[in-house]
Amino acid sequence: MACRRMPTKYTPIWLMRQAGRYMKEYRSLRRKYSFLEMCKTPELAAEVTLLPVEQLEVDAAIIFSDILIPLEPMGIEFEFAAQEGPVFRHPIREMKQIQVLRTFQPEEGLPFLMEAIRIVRRALDGKMPLIGFSGAPFTLASYIIEGGHSRDYILTKGFMYQNRAAWDALMNKLCEVVIQYLNAQVRAGVQALQLFDSWAGCLSPYDYEEYVLPYSKRVIDGADKSVPLIHFATSSATLLKLMKRAGGEVIGVDWRVDLGAAWAQLGYDVAVQGNLDPVVLLSSPEVIEKEAKRILSGAEGRPGHIFNLGHGILPHTPVDHVVRLIETVHQCSAR
Ligand code: CP3
Repeated sequence: MACRRMPTKYTPIWLMRQAGRYMKEYRSLRRKYSFLEMCKTPELAAEVTLLPVEQLEVDAAIIFSDILIPLEPMGIEFEFAAQEGPVFRHPIREMKQIQVLRTFQPEEGLPFLMEAIRIVRRALDGKMPLIGFSGAPFTLASYIIEGGHSRDYILTKGFMYQNRAAWDALMNKLCEVVIQYLNAQVRAGVQALQLFDSWAGCLSPYDYEEYVLPYSKRVIDGADKSVPLIHFATSSATLLKLMKRAGGEVIGVDWRVDLGAAWAQLGYDVAVQGNLDPVVLLSSPEVIEKEAKRILSGAEGRPGHIFNLGHGILPHTPVDHVVRLIETVHQCSAR
């Protein structure tokens, strides 16, 4: 409803990474299973998806998975190394590696995800919407090319600037996979989509427009229009108008922008999601309340604001602070 800018009884809230290491139930499951095992076992993925639904008064669930999950059926291997995050042993740096990347039917390549979505939908029984997601082509390309997380994106940008044909080939392949992957999640039952272009903020507006926007636009145009799509990036203050041009019913913004100013700049014909600094959740309940109210006042009670963090919740976040945030948002936005 809020994604479509329809009035709601209060501002809805969910949190990126709402099922994760800050929860003791998650940590105890992680002692028994690896992160990828959890993603690939439908019953476990469903159980983790439902943890925040049971413990917090969130207004949406997001399926437990990862943006890197569709890379494996493409023929790209990676692992999650302790403390380091994802590591790709064979990063992609030339055309002939791109030509052999596979596209696939998600129902065949990722049956566990589709099953997890069906289990969660049954358990939620219409109580709240379930969000599916994908990484956007640029953010996925950055992992594949760098071989993991990066600070300066030197290899990704070098590839983009110096090997235009290979960049186009890689982005085309990712577009095809991402569209299939999003639409299969809709067929399995998700009721909204989020496209994570988490690292697009490393680009100038010129480079975003030239090397990223056409591909993100193709993905969003190709996504099933029966559900709304949230288009999210971080450090995106200078990219907001361009992201809107690429598409999405909702633009997700991080805490580096003033929500009210960002919305005014985007125009009120699009919804917005955000944008509490996740670090605020590590402070005191008083600060959390003050910051939440400041963000709500920036939205001025207009329909089409979905409250969220500006990026994923941090592992050391106290659960009672999250509860306090959700209460504050619900109470202070009640209309
Ligand atoms: O939001 C949710 O609760 C749904 C689940 C979800 C995860 N990852 C679970 C996860 C979602 C939507 C993601 C998206 C994701 N994954 C992004 C985009 C969002 C963002 O943060 O910008 C990115 C860039 C990734 C890639 C990724 N996955 C990294 C870099 C890491 C390691 C860093 C870290 O936080 O540990 C992961 C691992 C990961 N994905 C964890 C979780 C709960 C932690 C795994 C663990 O238990 O050790």
